Amino acid sequence: MKRIILFALFLQFILVTSAQTIATEKKIEALIKKMTLEEKVGMIHGNTAFSTAGVKRLGIPELIMSDGPHGVNYERPLDWSTPRPPSLDSGTYLPVGICLASTWNPALGYEFGKVLGSEAAFRKKHIILGPGINIMRNPLNGRNFEYQSEDPYLISKMVVGYIKGVQEQGVAACVKHFIANNQEVQRNSINVEMSERALREIYLPGFKAAVEAGVSTIMGSYSQFRGEYCTHNDYLVNKILKGEWKFKGPMISDWGAVHNTMQAIENGCDIEMGSELAMLPNINYSKFFLGDTVVSLVKAGRVKEALIDEKVRRILRVMYQYNMIEGKMRAGQYNTRAHQLTALKVAEEGIVLLKNEQDLLPLNKSTIKSIAVIGNNAIRLQGFGGGSSQVKAFYEISPLQGIKNFVNNEVKIDFAQGYEDHKGATANTELIAQAVSLASKADVVIFVGGWTHGYDYNKWDDNAFDAENVDKPNMDMPFGQNELITALQKANKNMVVVLVGGGAIDMTQCEPNTKAIVQAWYAGMEGGNALANILFGKTNPSGKLPVTFPKKLADASAIKLGEYPGNGINVVYKDDIFVGYRYHDTYNVKPQFAFGHGLSYTQFQYDKLQLTKLSGNVVQVSFTITNTGKVAGAEVAQVYVKQIKSALPRPDKELKDFQKVTLQPGETKKIAIELKADAFQYYNDKLYKWVLEKGKFEIKVGGASDHISLSEIVELY
Ligand code: BGC
Repeated sequence: MKRIILFALFLQFILVTSAQTIATEKKIEALIKKMTLEEKVGMIHGNTAFSTAGVKRLGIPELIMSDGPHGVNYERPLDWSTPRPPSLDSGTYLPVGICLASTWNPALGYEFGKVLGSEAAFRKKHIILGPGINIMRNPLNGRNFEYQSEDPYLISKMVVGYIKGVQEQGVAACVKHFIANNQEVQRNSINVEMSERALREIYLPGFKAAVEAGVSTIMGSYSQFRGEYCTHNDYLVNKILKGEWKFKGPMISDWGAVHNTMQAIENGCDIEMGSELAMLPNINYSKFFLGDTVVSLVKAGRVKEALIDEKVRRILRVMYQYNMIEGKMRAGQYNTRAHQLTALKVAEEGIVLLKNEQDLLPLNKSTIKSIAVIGNNAIRLQGFGGGSSQVKAFYEISPLQGIKNFVNNEVKIDFAQGYEDHKGATANTELIAQAVSLASKADVVIFVGGWTHGYDYNKWDDNAFDAENVDKPNMDMPFGQNELITALQKANKNMVVVLVGGGAIDMTQCEPNTKAIVQAWYAGMEGGNALANILFGKTNPSGKLPVTFPKKLADASAIKLGEYPGNGINVVYKDDIFVGYRYHDTYNVKPQFAFGHGLSYTQFQYDKLQLTKLSGNVVQVSFTITNTGKVAGAEVAQVYVKQIKSALPRPDKELKDFQKVTLQPGETKKIAIELKADAFQYYNDKLYKWVLEKGKFEIKVGGASDHISLSEIVELY
């Protein structure tokens, strides 16, 4: 009976939704009929740097967009020279994408999205240009900090919550950059060549999950793919995105990513934004590729107006979805304490404890008398760094401030800068001497260093690590930090190294003599407080790396197997599907810290793995986790699959599920998950389809990709 009622309710839901869809589509067609060609064309290209034109007489508003993935951008100039009218634009600065993904907590992805959506609604933005989900193919990519992971499954899980969170607040999300923006070097021209298998298994799944989650808009990427710009790429946009996946919203170009009017018209680019021209004052937006030329082409009969109608239709769908036409958008909230607490929570769950020998951490403020905090990143504010994702933070707690807040004058805190972070800076003996002098007198040293975040959007240079438009020149610790750390290690054995940054850094010199290492990312406006909570054990760390940290750059898969940054024209992804841990584990290359790694102040024990085969090659996996330590903590249980024998080579392990569980000391919980048939498939690009080959599969369960506690074989057919 219950089932029948549920089915009836479901049916009713489907009928009501499709009736609403039909009614909206009718309204859209009626509006399109009333529009002139010029009005339609006005809607498909920028009329300022962050909006497209509306049609006032028909009640169609301008479509207003804002960056970015971890906070609503400050009011950018309309045409890069005239600022928008002054407004309240210092907002909540959330932790960056890589930190969010390190939480391995999709529910937090949702909370994160809610903050962003609510603040965007308050600021009267219609579209927020995020999340950014390009695969972290190589450790040097300047924008890895904005993205989420090297693993398509983890991205697919995290992206859903983010999108729903934003869109439930009445603002459209814009997942970006579709696809293959995996390096900033020559991003505007480089042609990416990859196998169909790598495309399907690694680079597309996150975007597919976003479309399935109902993302309203998508942004094309700058680069080319198989010889055609991604933003107007017939295969990617027409065939896959709009064909196979049936995406109904607009595909927005990246800023200046359109290069050809006919291709943009025919290959599915619905809105052209930016362009290099937009950087110039007095820009004439009607000269965009999708501007006046389109009007002339239609009038000359060289382009069918129906192609333009289709673009307008897609834009109007977003406008109706969020009640923009009726002018009834949701109000939203700004800079609330609740938003700041979400920023804190994400940072606390995202910061990763990489190493903790002799239980140096957590620090105990009642037994420690003095701490030397060393390093420029302890005081450097990061929110305004990075390029288009920069956020004017309402406030930002630096690591030093967070530590001071926590100890509340109960412990003596001394600070020394230790190194300079301007362009070309190397070890500074005077600063090192000052730092060593403080370190030798302190009970504990907290060194805060790593990468820096380029400050200024318009000043891209090679000092701007973790910034748009530049990649890192190498993986070496910049500014002579190795010399500094070595000197500090000699002065004081009790040193914690806190690494700020958007990804791996070469730690081979500093790691062996450092007892504790914490990966702090760019952790948002509450980052300093979150870090202190972790260092002093108020928060038990539970973050796990969403990307492999190789020991040396030469060990990274894109460098070892693939090509990076290519020959100036093409970059061939010869690393294929062997990205990140898929490479390290299959080719036995030990990383510095593995994908999925992250320590806690407690320990977890995995037991009782049971595999049960259900019909349709579904496998039920169950196991228990026990907190065997003395404090409460959360563990991310990771489930990997390995096919024992396959027609084409497969990785040693692929993440297929994970769950984050919180356990009290001594508590045991049973985890039961179902691996559906697709968890065992791979894309056979000789057959051009996903295949499930019969045979044996190993299910591996553990707390990190290099820490598998349980494994069993299951046979499928
Ligand atoms: C970036 C996008 C961003 C856009 C607008 C581009 O340079 O690649 O991610 O949304 O600028 O600022």
